[in-house]
Amino acid sequence: MLSGKTILLGVTGGIAAYKSVEIVSRLRKQGAEVYVVMTKAATEFVTPLTFRSMSANPVYTSLFEEPKTWNIEHISLAEQVDASLIAPATANILAKMVTGISDDFLSTVLLAVRTPIFVAPAMNHAMYHHPATQKNLEILRERDIRIIGPAQGFQACGSEGDGRMSEPQDIINVLEDYFSQSRQNRYMSGKKVLVTAGGTREPIDPVRYIGNFSTGKMGYAVAQAFAEAGAQVTLVSAPSEIAVPSGVEVVSISTAEEMYTEVLRRFPEQDIVIKAAAVADYRPVVRETQKMKKSNQSVRLELVPNPDILTTLGQKKQEQFLVGFAAETQNPLDNGWEKMKRKKADILIVNDVTLPGAGFGTDTNIVTFLFADGRRRDLPQMSKLEIARQLVEEIAHLKSKTKE
Ligand code: PMT
Repeated sequence: MLSGKTILLGVTGGIAAYKSVEIVSRLRKQGAEVYVVMTKAATEFVTPLTFRSMSANPVYTSLFEEPKTWNIEHISLAEQVDASLIAPATANILAKMVTGISDDFLSTVLLAVRTPIFVAPAMNHAMYHHPATQKNLEILRERDIRIIGPAQGFQACGSEGDGRMSEPQDIINVLEDYFSQSRQNRYMSGKKVLVTAGGTREPIDPVRYIGNFSTGKMGYAVAQAFAEAGAQVTLVSAPSEIAVPSGVEVVSISTAEEMYTEVLRRFPEQDIVIKAAAVADYRPVVRETQKMKKSNQSVRLELVPNPDILTTLGQKKQEQFLVGFAAETQNPLDNGWEKMKRKKADILIVNDVTLPGAGFGTDTNIVTFLFADGRRRDLPQMSKLEIARQLVEEIAHLKSKTKE
């Protein structure tokens, strides 16, 4: 599974660093290319020479050492790797990853990688259970960083408990599982997919806008599922607090017109477009240049319709596969079928946003897939990511049928 893969191994300063030598050896035996990046503290435990000899590659220890290639090294390294593994990962590197501190080669390269990151924590068990460390691990998990272990047992400091780095073979098994799953799931390999997410904002004046309750959770989950399946994903996103899934290129916009421009510009080269964004149907005719003064008089805002992006895509589409979402508050299916035909979508995903656990801001959704051939599939309440993965499978299935 690891043959031909390029792995970045980050080694931080813990006694378990000596075990990482074995990780390099095992990765190389399986045919992986390994680049080791060490923190300064790690070099106190094991020398860079050991890792250089085991990996047969240069070892990176400082942002400012003599470059080994002509490229900006932390960026070019970040672009090459299929996965990064931090083993051992100290409490310090976890905290730096959470906050985005980039004060050495390893923390800097980790900000630039767009492929999956695996972390094998290793520290004293009291440090591991400290609320700060636990919170950091929780945040990293939310960002889809995979945490391996830690294991339990006797610790170098003399105490017993959890906090030991997982054994090298257990760590390798996790990497193997990841690559075997992603190989099976590479339905979308070579496909270009554009996803829209979040709620657009239509400015009234420099401090106010017309918006909606979309958080971007649904669209970001869709982007993640397509990236996991091997697609080259562009996410055109309205303002959102959600972390960008790894491997996804994000284009930030604010208004419906900006979204229209960015989506239309990229449309010709896409294979699939998924419109999960909640796009404002109207915008104020006038965008005041100064903050509107408060008065006791009522105010009238004149609104004009925004361009309908999905409808325009439906009119222009050649080979592209189009998916729309419909946020409904009544007669979801009737309205959904009508929207699907009018907007010429290949799949329309209807959600009744009045249901608990569905629609805006929730981690789950309750949806029905409507297909252009008249079929329909009702899904029970499930996470937005799981719905997105179901969508990947449906499209892969439909595309394989049209090839037959
Ligand atoms: O972001 P979350 O908090 O996770 O919430 C998820 C969601 C409820 C926003 C999502 O599941 C959803 O339903 N997205 C579509 C919302 C919407 O705009 O629905 P609509 O029925 O108004 O529009 C139908 C389709 O036309 C949508 O694909 C929409 O992107 C598209 N549209 C609408 C208006 C417009 N001017 N241009 C468009 O392209």
